[in-house]
Amino acid sequence: MSQPTPSRRTLGLTVAAAACGLLLAGAAQAQQAPLKVGFMLPATGTFAALGDFIEKGFKLHVQEQGGKLGGREIQYFKVDDESDPSKATDNVNKLIKRDQVDVIVGTVHSGVALAMARAARESNTLLIVPNAGADAITGAQCAKNIFRSSFSNWQPGYAAGVVAAGKGYKRAMTITWNYAAGQETVKGFTEAFEKGGGKVAKELTLPFPNVEFQALLTEIAAQKPDVVFAFFAGGGAVKFVKDYDAAGLKKTVPLVASGFLTDGTLEAQGASAQGILSTLHYADNIDTPRNNAFRKSFALTYKANADVYAVQGYDAAQMLAAGLNAVKGDFTKRDALLEAMNKAVIDSPRGKFSLSPQRNPVQDIFLREAKGTNNELRGVAVKALADPGRGCRS
Ligand code: PHB
Repeated sequence: MSQPTPSRRTLGLTVAAAACGLLLAGAAQAQQAPLKVGFMLPATGTFAALGDFIEKGFKLHVQEQGGKLGGREIQYFKVDDESDPSKATDNVNKLIKRDQVDVIVGTVHSGVALAMARAARESNTLLIVPNAGADAITGAQCAKNIFRSSFSNWQPGYAAGVVAAGKGYKRAMTITWNYAAGQETVKGFTEAFEKGGGKVAKELTLPFPNVEFQALLTEIAAQKPDVVFAFFAGGGAVKFVKDYDAAGLKKTVPLVASGFLTDGTLEAQGASAQGILSTLHYADNIDTPRNNAFRKSFALTYKANADVYAVQGYDAAQMLAAGLNAVKGDFTKRDALLEAMNKAVIDSPRGKFSLSPQRNPVQDIFLREAKGTNNELRGVAVKALADPGRGCRS
């Protein structure tokens, strides 16, 4: 067999060079492929509006960055979780296994989010929780790839307990849905209220997402506590606030609530909500350039007023951006990306916040009062409140 002639050699080199070029182009293309973000949020049921505003908030930040984070286009995938924990594992696997997303953003309901966290831990998929407060997500079930842009249930509950005790109330009753968010929020309230000299006389509950409050309201009227602490949200919160008023309790037994009772709901609650005091990591009229710009941008884009859910979605995108920017969009640099997310200071409409070592926001919890269609700022209930992160070992 003869050696290749010079011309054949040249041809071989040309082919090799072309193949090499193709490979390089392929690598560049792979780097620029869109990052897959999977939303798992409620699109139906009592929390549907909350899911909608989280998605809107997230997309607003991406839009403000020209449709890219860390130089990467974002491709969206979506699953309606129906706020149903029994379907949660199947639903999250649609995103992880079928769609093979890079990042999951979800959800609202604590029970659903706990199942998502388990699946994220097992598959090592990056998860950013833009609402659900289940304490274990940044506590006993924490993981390096699981972040929260919202709060732990303990946080607003604890702050409400500080406020209620500070007002001199001694005997409280609590009322909520009987699931993780309700139980843990009440636990936070009780911890601070009893530390401040009060006593929780009775915990009233009903199953999620029931709204037959009448028998429980009758019991409150009979017991006449100094204060009632409530956690409800979304459609259920609208009905509770109206029923509390219709039962005549608004005038006789003051309500101090976790802020979700009146967030995103004031238009529907109308006069029944006016004057309700609540604690949360956001207030509508925080008068800073950052919050004013955010609210304006949200209103222009969606013809609607932003609420806490919109803020949490927006900040989930900011947290992802912090990670992606640090690695110039190279999602394979996993450790550097996670570290940058954990160390980031997020310039949130609520005010700047950092993350605890357990990856939950360390943040001011505000006291707000419902006025018109706004939850107006009345002060800081607890400054820079960090969830204790109990049981987190990674
Ligand atoms: C929760 O289930 O963790 C939850 C749901 C709705 C809220 C807040 C927390 O508004």
